[in-house]
Amino acid sequence: MIQQIAVIGSGVMGRGIAYVSAVGGFDVYLADLKEEALVSAKAEIDLIFEKAAARNILSQEQINAANERLHYTDSIEGASQRADLIIEAVPENMSIKKEVFEMLDKYAKEDCIFASNTSTMSPTEIGSFTGRPEKVIAMHFFNPVHKMPLIEIVRGLETSDETAASIEMAAKQMRKETVTIKEFPGFVTSRISALVGNEAFYMLQEGVGTPEEIDKAIRLGLNYPMGPFELGDLVGLDTRLHNLNYLHKTLGEKYRPAPLLVQYVKAGRLGRKSGKGVYDYTNWEMVKR
Ligand SMILES: NC(=O)c1ccc[n+]([C@@H]2O[C@H](COP(=O)([O-])OP(=O)(O)OC[C@H]3O[C@@H](n4cnc5c(N)ncnc54)[C@H](O)[C@@H]3O)[C@@H](O)[C@H]2O)c1
Repeated sequence: MIQQIAVIGSGVMGRGIAYVSAVGGFDVYLADLKEEALVSAKAEIDLIFEKAAARNILSQEQINAANERLHYTDSIEGASQRADLIIEAVPENMSIKKEVFEMLDKYAKEDCIFASNTSTMSPTEIGSFTGRPEKVIAMHFFNPVHKMPLIEIVRGLETSDETAASIEMAAKQMRKETVTIKEFPGFVTSRISALVGNEAFYMLQEGVGTPEEIDKAIRLGLNYPMGPFELGDLVGLDTRLHNLNYLHKTLGEKYRPAPLLVQYVKAGRLGRKSGKGVYDYTNWEMVKR
């Protein structure tokens, strides 16, 4: 039975996963190599709690209890030793994930389940970095995690029924809907989202419209809740580029990243998290998330 969850990586996604896990009643250890990432994760989680209180989504008692269950740590080893389930949310780069999973495999309890929040990559390959491929699965959350209702579950070749069932139960306890799909690069959601986001960058490069015009056309004309640039800035343009590079390698030419997107990432314009992406967030409060 899953009671303790370690979340590895406290960036855009890890902090949201830690929040929904704590609110769902799990003891949570949110771990990161970088102290500043943990500090900013705590600040953002506190804001989400504040908003949940203001909107009567959670009572003050529920918030206090969830806060008590949340622990922030720079010890990946300590966090993973305690966990029944480890959710990995480090950057979308297979060599980083390999290093992390090899390490987790050494520290974690024998029966601990490993879930990757990868947007595109193979849980089968990730499982092969460990001595427990039957306990490895992809658990793909969406951004912002506290608002988005879905978790896309992707089983690897060796993932056991027991592991998949435990993840379904954990997702339910986090009050999320699930869809379980067959492993293929980009799953369902990232494959579509990467194409739309990339096409928008090609349009910007071609001078078809300004970012505001393209976003407005997609929001109001196609009834998307956010325009592709608003979403790209929320996701992180570096993460979007990692996804596209992987999909380009695995699925071919139609996923070749737009040169303008590559240029933005080279310039350090990563979106909301760096203060500037397609749009400028310099004077923008985190509260708006
Ligand atoms: N950003 C999104 O909208 C989104 C949505 C769904 C899934 N994902 C996936 O979630 C994962 C994380 O993405 P993100 O956007 O949160 O990235 P991010 O860059 O915001 O955060 C990654 C965090 O991992 C930490 N980290 C790096 N190496 C580490 C290590 N060895 N041990 C512990 N921590 C380490 C970094 O310090 C950073 O805080 C990726 O696989 C991404 O594809 C992202």
